[in-house]
Amino acid sequence: DAPADLQRLIEAGIRDVPDFPEPGVVFKDITPLLADPASLKAVAEAMAAPFDGRVDAVVGLEARGFILAAPVALELGAGFVPVRKAGKLPAKTYRESYDLEYGTATVEMHVDAFAPGSRVLVVDDVLATGGTGRAAVELVHRAGGTVVGFSVLMELGFLKGRDRLTGVGVHALTEA
Ligand code: PRP
Repeated sequence: DAPADLQRLIEAGIRDVPDFPEPGVVFKDITPLLADPASLKAVAEAMAAPFDGRVDAVVGLEARGFILAAPVALELGAGFVPVRKAGKLPAKTYRESYDLEYGTATVEMHVDAFAPGSRVLVVDDVLATGGTGRAAVELVHRAGGTVVGFSVLMELGFLKGRDRLTGVGVHALTEA
C-alpha cells in the first residue's frame, strides 16, 4: 500500500457511486482524483516507482487505464501502447477474448506495438476480476514482450483478480 499522505489523497479522490452502472453495484469513481493536480501527479509517480529503470513500454487498457498509463510511461521514460476494445485499432492486431458475467469481451493490440524482447508494464485503474488484465498479459506475450508487472491504482480484493494473474507481479496503491 501507498504511504499515509498518498493514501489520504486516494481515499479523498475516489468516491463510491451506488447502483451504477446497474442496481446493486457500487461504482468506484476516480474522476475527483484525476481532477486534483497533486493527486494525479502523486498517483502516477507511485504507480511507476517500483518499476523505475526496468520498462521499455507501458501498456494501457482502454479507457480509464489510458489516463494513468500515459503519465506512468512519461515517468519511466518508456513508450505508451494501447490495448483497445475490438475494432478500434487500425493496423494488424492480436486479439484476446475473456468471459464477462454475461457473454465475452475482446481486446486487441497492434502486432508491432513494441519490439520483441521489450520489457512491458501493464497499467490500469482498477483490478476487479482480472479478466482484462489476463487478456492484456496474453497479448504482451504473443507480441514477444516480457511482463515486468501489472500496476493499478485500486484492487478490488474480494473479486480475487490476482488469482488469474499467476506469475505477474501486481502492484496496487490501495485495496477495497
Ligand atoms: C474496467 C476497469 C478495468 C476493468 C477491470 O474497465 O477500467 O479495465 O474494468 O475489470 P476486470 O478486472 O474484471 O476485467 P471497463 O471494461 O469498465 O472499461 P472502461 O475503462 O472503458 O470504462
